[in-house]
Order: sequence, then C-alpha cells, then structure tokens
Amino acid sequence: RDESTFTFVLFGGTGDLAMRKILPALYQAHRDKLIDASGRILAVARAAPDLPGYLEWVEENVKPKVPKAEFNDDDWRGFLERIAYVQLDATQQADFVKLKDTLETYGGTRVFYLATGPSLFVPICEALAEQQLNTHARIVLEKPLGYDLESSKAINDAVGAIFQEEQIYRIDHYLGKEPVQNLLALRFGNALFEPLWRREWVESIQITIAEQLGVEARGDFYDQVGALRDMVQNHLLQLLAIVAMEPPHALDSSDSVRDEKLRVLRALKPLSASDISKVAVRGQYASGVVRGESVPAYATEKGVKEGSETETFVALKVEIENWRWAGVPFFLRTGKRLAERTAEIVVNFRPVPHSALGPGALRAGANRMVIRLQPHESIRLYCLAKQPGEGMQVQSVYLDLDFDQFFKGNRMEAYERLLLDVIHGRLALFVRRDEQEAAWRWVEPIIDEWATSGKKPKAYASGTWGPAAASAMLAQHGTYWFEEE
Ligand code: BG6
Repeated sequence: RDESTFTFVLFGGTGDLAMRKILPALYQAHRDKLIDASGRILAVARAAPDLPGYLEWVEENVKPKVPKAEFNDDDWRGFLERIAYVQLDATQQADFVKLKDTLETYGGTRVFYLATGPSLFVPICEALAEQQLNTHARIVLEKPLGYDLESSKAINDAVGAIFQEEQIYRIDHYLGKEPVQNLLALRFGNALFEPLWRREWVESIQITIAEQLGVEARGDFYDQVGALRDMVQNHLLQLLAIVAMEPPHALDSSDSVRDEKLRVLRALKPLSASDISKVAVRGQYASGVVRGESVPAYATEKGVKEGSETETFVALKVEIENWRWAGVPFFLRTGKRLAERTAEIVVNFRPVPHSALGPGALRAGANRMVIRLQPHESIRLYCLAKQPGEGMQVQSVYLDLDFDQFFKGNRMEAYERLLLDVIHGRLALFVRRDEQEAAWRWVEPIIDEWATSGKKPKAYASGTWGPAAASAMLAQHGTYWFEEE
C-alpha cells in the first residue's frame, strides 16, 4: 500500500458540515498544494444519485463558501476532478460492498471522516469492519461524541473494538485554530511569562467564547445538547487545559501535549451537587437586538421544544487542584446571542505587594494579559504608566500585538489544518479518549444537577452579556468580566 497518497472518504457528504467546513477546507488544501496530487475525495451520501448529481450539489453549495480571494477556476476544476461519489445508506450494511469495490480501485491510506450524527458512528464502523476496511485506515469522529460519560464510553468502546486508538481522530476544531496553537508558542517560547504563570502571581483567569449567532437551523439538534455539552465539555475545557498545563518536554510526539492536558483535566476540582448553584450559571436567550437587528427568543426558534429548558449560556467557576493553580479561580463563559462575537483569555495578575504610587497602583487588573483568539488575533499586555505632566498619576495602558498586522497574508483555517493532520497521520491536535472522558466526568455532576434541580435557566436578553448572575458570581470574588474598549 502506498502510504504517500490517500483516499478521503467523506460520510455525510451532502450534510451541513461537509458543505460549510470540510469541502471548503479540502479545496484550500488542494489549492495550497498541501495534499498529494493523486489523493482522492470519495464522498458518500444518500441524497445524490450519482457523481454528476453530487458535483452539481458541490457547485451550488460549496463553491459559495470558499472565500472569493482564495478562489480560482483552475484550482476549482482540479479540485472537482479529485472527487468521486458512492451513493450509500449508512444504515444498510449491504451498501458497503459498493464502497469496498470502489475503494479497491484506489490506493493509499484510507481516511474515513464521519460527518454524520453520532448515532451513525457505531453502525458505520461496524459496516466498515464487516468489509475489512478498518486496516490501513484512520477514522475521524466529529463532536458531539456522546451525550454524557456513559454514552461517550459506549461509542468509544464500540469504535475502539474496530479501530486502534492511534487510528482514531476525535475533532475539536478549536485545537486547529491558529491562535490556539499560538498559545503554546506564547507560553513555552517565552521565559518572560513562565515565572508569573502560577498562583503566586495570577489572581484569576477568564476564558470566554461568545457568539452573536443564535441556534440558526440547528434548533432540533441543539435543543437536545445545550451549551454545556456543545461548548464547555470540549472547546472551553480544552482551552483551559492548554492555558493551565505544565510545559511539555517537546512537541514532537502525539502525546506530549495530550498527556499534560489530561493531567489538568484530571485535576479539576470535582463539583458536588451543593456547589453547583454557587459556581455554575445557566441562561437561555430571550428576544432582543443583536447588531441592530431584532432577533427572536430561543424558545420560539424552529426545532426547539415548547417550554425547553436547554441552556444557551453557561458561566462557571472552575478550580484546579495542583501546586501551580491551587486557589486560583478560572472563570469560563460561553453563550449564543451575546453582545459580541469574541473568544478570549484574560489573565489577571496580582497587584504589586506595596505601592509607592498611591492606591491606584494596587487596583486589581493593573496588570493583565488579554489573549484574543477571535474575531482578530491579538495579545495585549496591560500595565500602568505615568500620565504625562506634573505629579505622579498612573494610568492603565497596554502593549499591543496585532497578529494580522504582523503576519500579513492568508491564515490557515482550523479545518484545513486538522484535515491535513489526519491525512498526514498527525494525532497531536486530536482529543484522546482519556482526555475526553476526563472532561465528561467533570461536567457530569452539572448535567445531573441541572436535570434534577427543578430550576430553569435564567432568561437573558439577546445582545447582552448573559444573565446578571454570571457577573454576580465574579463580584463575589472581587472581580468582573473584563471587556476591552
Ligand atoms: C461548534 C458548536 O463546535 O462551535 C457551535 O457546535 C458553535 O454551536 C461553534 O457555533 C463555534 O465555533 P467558532 O469556530 O465559530 O467559534
């Protein structure tokens, strides 16, 4: 088998994810000449009857998703030539014979990308095994992988009986984002910050992923999931792990970073049922105004059950029980229909121990680092400086690093990076089973408490920063959610 080339088998080939993320990312990789010229994309779906029908769908749905600046006709034609198609019903084992026959005519490593609902993960893996397609292969699983610890274990057990852990690529697309990768460079490439990156000098850390979008067309799916499972169990806890982990000895193996992240996830202070009302806030968006437009309440979105208690906002106080972080609160927050779209990490340093400059220099937040991941990547280091003029008045100023200014040119999208990693067999940016289960284990008491407490999520107006309780939780610690002007 020629390992230098590949066949990328895309299950859910006409689905939303294929259309919005996967095929555009494969086009970019093709255009950037980052994949082997003989590599094939074999789309698999029920909806399109044949290859011409599928290509028509790609023209109509995928082409508009490629940013104009990155599109050109020649590359697009070349990209379409890579595509083959098999019509297949993933619930029908017999249909997989067709897939096997087609695959036998192609060489290279097989990548099976399951861009389908999680209920199809196990049936597809079993059908692949039945056709002995699980060797020389990699399998990519999209989130959500399960609904809680037990269901994620069941999927992992079933998939794990067919594929080895080294063949399994669990996607968390946040790990493919350039600024998230850059966190490693910031933390482990600069001796400047490392001595301060600990409880002695850090007062608290905030991690926010805020969206302005609502549930869009995914009401049906989202209503069964909610923000805790959709964003906290994966993206937010992964960011937290990278921010808090110990320095890995190298970045050259699949496991050096994953081992360190796992240690953090296992050190998260477990929550008891009685803690949860104090350290977890959940909200649901009501109607409101976002970017000048009136938007409806979550409860009236298409696909949402009447009287739904699904949360669209979560704020949490998390603690890490180890020497580096004991006693330092990590405040996490995410929500839909919030005031802004942003993803950022705010490290609040402790004030100086004694101020010769008056009480101004002792105020909280005089020194903070704001690492913005979205919508534009930047790092601002806030410090105090003397106001010009007579006397000694200090004022907050910042050192500003704007990555778009510094690194001109196209940035690689998360999906492009991750798909290239799968094709080239690099596992480091994918979530290992033990990490995933540690995250579920920590989140589960919150799921249970919310399901049984009889309390509803707090309503918040769309276009705001969520329920007031999220701010009150920080106020108890003498702090507030930082907002950049
Ligand atoms: C996905 C969630 O994983 O992440 C979505 O399922 C969310 O609900 C999305 O909108 C946010 O990703 P990004 O890259 O736009 O911040």
